Amino acid sequence: MNTTWGKLYGVGVGPGDPRLLTLLAIDVLQTVDVVAIPKSKLERESVAWDIAKVHCPKEVRLIELELPMTSDQQILAKAWQDGAQTLLGELKQGKSVAFITLGDPSLYSTYSYLLNILQEELPPECIATVPGITAMAAAAAKINLPLATGDEPLLILPSTDDVGDYLNFPNLVLMKVSRRLPEMLTLLEERGRKAVLLTRLGQPGEAIRWEPKALDFGSEKVDYLSLLLVKKDLLGRKNSESDRRN
Ligand SMILES: C[S@@+](CC[C@H](N)C(=O)[O-])C[C@H]1O[C@@H](n2cnc3c(N)ncnc32)[C@H](O)[C@@H]1O
Repeated sequence: MNTTWGKLYGVGVGPGDPRLLTLLAIDVLQTVDVVAIPKSKLERESVAWDIAKVHCPKEVRLIELELPMTSDQQILAKAWQDGAQTLLGELKQGKSVAFITLGDPSLYSTYSYLLNILQEELPPECIATVPGITAMAAAAAKINLPLATGDEPLLILPSTDDVGDYLNFPNLVLMKVSRRLPEMLTLLEERGRKAVLLTRLGQPGEAIRWEPKALDFGSEKVDYLSLLLVKKDLLGRKNSESDRRN
């Protein structure tokens, strides 16, 4: 018997402010049968849901998927497989499902791993990825700073221990900095690079720190939702920002 599949949407909900969803994302959230919420632990709150919920009908069915943050590949593979099977269960019954994800679904999102599995099973017309505003776009907008202009390249990096070679790049976005912030700042300081740290953009607790120093972060655990923008003319920008405010 042929299956009449429901449609899977991977919906980017932007970085925090619920007004930063696209009209398409809102349309999808208002019409799907099920909203799937990825969580690192089921008992935790979901930032993506906090952002998306104002756009969803009260009666929409929610399913939570536990997708832990770990480097253990076996645990990850099982979680992605379980998550994909849960979604397939809904899609097989003809239900439409929106898998919500912070920022844009194509940038460091667990959606990509589930998508890999689901693409094996679903016809291509049953999958639609809805782009979202990335955290780095929100960061640049927040401080009125272009990420790159003209012919300049832009490098987006996760904060891993082998980033050293890239840190002289003129325009940098360092994501997932939280646990490695002092280490990243030390590497940047050694190279004379200036950075701005942006945390929880568009969310309660939003913070901007110009020129953060490694020493200031000895024992402080920095929020996971933080990134560093690094640019060669950053201080000029900072000064014109404060000039504007004065
Ligand atoms: C798993 S990645 C998700 C990126 C997301 N898909 C995007 O398009 O921006 C998580 C990282 O994105 C950055 N991030 C996401 N939301 C943020 C926010 N509201 N404020 C600052 N950084 C954020 C942080 O660097 C965080 O460690």
